[in-house]
Amino acid sequence: MVDLTTTYLGLNLKNPLVASASPLSKHVDAVKKLEDAGVSAVVMYSLFEEEIIHESEELDYHLDHGTESFPEALTYFPDLDYPNLAPQQYLELVSKLKKSVGIPVIGSLNGSTLGGWEHYAKLIEEAGADALELNLYFIPTDPRLQAQELENGYVALVKTIRSLIHIPLAVKLGPNFSSLPNFATRLADAGANSLVLFNRFYQPDLDIETMEVVPNLELSTSSELRLPLRWIAILYNRVKADFALTSGVHTPEDVIKAVMAGANVAMSASALLHNGADYARILLRGVADWMDKFEYESVNQMRGSLSQKNVADPAAFERANYMKILNSFNPKAL
Ligand SMILES: Cc1cc2nc3c(=O)[nH]c(=O)nc-3n(C[C@H](O)[C@H](O)[C@H](O)COP(=O)(O)O)c2cc1C
Repeated sequence: MVDLTTTYLGLNLKNPLVASASPLSKHVDAVKKLEDAGVSAVVMYSLFEEEIIHESEELDYHLDHGTESFPEALTYFPDLDYPNLAPQQYLELVSKLKKSVGIPVIGSLNGSTLGGWEHYAKLIEEAGADALELNLYFIPTDPRLQAQELENGYVALVKTIRSLIHIPLAVKLGPNFSSLPNFATRLADAGANSLVLFNRFYQPDLDIETMEVVPNLELSTSSELRLPLRWIAILYNRVKADFALTSGVHTPEDVIKAVMAGANVAMSASALLHNGADYARILLRGVADWMDKFEYESVNQMRGSLSQKNVADPAAFERANYMKILNSFNPKAL
């Protein structure tokens, strides 16, 4: 019997497969199914900064203008087209999930600026979450906004949230930072116990007939694994934090690669959404069988074995490899 146990955010987990934030966590039954199928923890879908601010503005208006003007208030505020539950319902769902399942439940907040909504971190903790994942999601469009300024804002947000809660804090971020090792270190110094790499940005498409920008959500494929894989391999043992790999975890081999790069856990959303919660069982069976076949005793033994510091050719993760890869390509057209 191979030992699949791992630790993540100070939690002892029975295996390295965690359900990433997705609509699956909106339903207690779906989370129960994930637990039955073997996932070791679940990250809830996010409560968004905009939802919290929207709700508190609505409440202020309500308090200022009396109950009878509430219908007016509803039209006064722009429609927020978020299909998520209201903040209060989110907190209720956290405590309901905690009562319904035995696996750790990680709450999730999605925001980018300090703006009075951060106290929800405390409320999520009070509702019983075992840890909190903070999803930093901001697309800069102002050419005057400097990278340093943006990163300083993120670090301040992490510090503030760290100071508000006692449960472990994970920070989920996108890949677009000029010097990721430096920024990752700053986040860890600010109190992030784990880095969740990477957030998957949904790229809108363009409808060239209606001349509109069209929202477009496609599920991932295994090929998307390589970006977080490379960066976790580089950051492992360089940054003092746990790592969760998200984006492109679809097969047992993907989970093993994540661990070998240095991840404490591999997170899955697309594969579970596409194949159903039971697919977790197949992934975990596959991981155990693979480990058995190649005579690995434990996940801990595998962790980081293919990180940059541990591979025979560390340059394979760097620029040197870029030149080699380009030169090795054999164009059929020539
Ligand atoms: C339908 C859908 C909803 C998602 N909702 C959230 C969310 O609320 N918060 C969040 O941090 N990530 C969210 N994600 C991102 C996933 O947690 C995950 O990081 C991303 O999809 C990459 O992993 P995957 O390749 O396994 O899908 C969502 C993804 C999908 C497909």
